Amino acid sequence: MALNHVQEPHFWVISDNHFYSDDLFEDSERFRKFESTTIGTDIRYTTQVLDAFVKKALDEKPTGIIITGDTTLNGEQRSLEHMAEIFEPLKKAGIAVLAIPGNHDIYNGWARKFVNGQQITAHQISPADFKEAFADGYQMSSSSDKNSLSYVVDLQDYRLLMLDSNIYSDRFSKTEPITKGQLSEKTLDWLENMLIEAQSMKKVPLIFMHHNLLAHNENVTEGFVLNNAQQVLELVEQYHVPLAMTGHIHLQNIMQDSKNPTFYEISTSSFSTAGSHIGHLKLQDNKISYEVEAFDPRPYFTENQLENSDLSQYPEFLANKYRQVGEQMALNFLIQSGMKEDAASLAKIVGEANLRYFTGNNLLSEADKVAIYQDSRYQTLKEFAPRLSSSVEQSVEDQNIPNNHSIVIDLPE
Ligand SMILES: [Fe+2]
Repeated sequence: MALNHVQEPHFWVISDNHFYSDDLFEDSERFRKFESTTIGTDIRYTTQVLDAFVKKALDEKPTGIIITGDTTLNGEQRSLEHMAEIFEPLKKAGIAVLAIPGNHDIYNGWARKFVNGQQITAHQISPADFKEAFADGYQMSSSSDKNSLSYVVDLQDYRLLMLDSNIYSDRFSKTEPITKGQLSEKTLDWLENMLIEAQSMKKVPLIFMHHNLLAHNENVTEGFVLNNAQQVLELVEQYHVPLAMTGHIHLQNIMQDSKNPTFYEISTSSFSTAGSHIGHLKLQDNKISYEVEAFDPRPYFTENQLENSDLSQYPEFLANKYRQVGEQMALNFLIQSGMKEDAASLAKIVGEANLRYFTGNNLLSEADKVAIYQDSRYQTLKEFAPRLSSSVEQSVEDQNIPNNHSIVIDLPE
């Protein structure tokens, strides 16, 4: 498979889809309990939704699909295999899938399946399995790193640097996945060589990886921003990287680096949570454009599937799931603080704020903002639970780039 014939590359970028093969579970109390711990991520219908996604791709024919890690729920080998089966028709259609692992994908001790009402361990993904399932990228690459699953793909005037930023052991694991990420010294050296080469080939280098380089949320940096982000940002500046696309934090957010304003980072929200975001990334002659689409899988579901009310209302099903997380967290906090009758209605605006924030739907009109701030429930929170009222503010004010759904980056001549 080759990408170079494409006039104007148009990629679909998704992240943190946490695919969980429906061969790995059956409905049981044990499974439902597990499902309630996934912080708004749908793990029940990922098979049906990925099927729908592939049908859409076959209809619309993007140049390729890029996944910035956490391709599987918890690194179950069957999830990876099943995903490759679902992606198979894309090969025939010439649509490449370029993936890099996330911290949940490789040798994850949390890999589980549900059989006969019980939860048992499932076979884990090795680096070799990952390369095999996502062979397109590795086959197309002009260079790959010996010390990680990183590789580069060149097309037109661009060089895509697909970086493996995860820390995992070299064998099956019995422990939880490591949240934080790092590029080893050897991988950094390789990366710098790839950047030097890009410069001499006059190609625009773009970074794709799981961990963030910039702090998209000041309160959540530990484990999310790459340990040695500073070292990478120095390379970014030196070799004029205009854009990095990352995931991990499950937040839809576009940032401009305040220290190096020609560099932007787009963090893509989790494909299996509210919004089901697909980022349309167009690589043009002198500019890069990006626009989020909230994917609605329902036109691609079969009649049989649509008899299930979760699937027939899928976007709302996901939004509700997400609202509930913020609402429950706020409710617990308020009840612990001694609040009784108002707690449930106050918690509702926190749930709504949480949904707005994580889906990047915070580009509000002045009138909408005023309505939120003048809501008496917000006023009460401000007085009795400032921590919660500040999460409402956070969902409305974005001091960096307020539009988290689209951007056009003009490249220097
Ligand atoms: Fe994730």
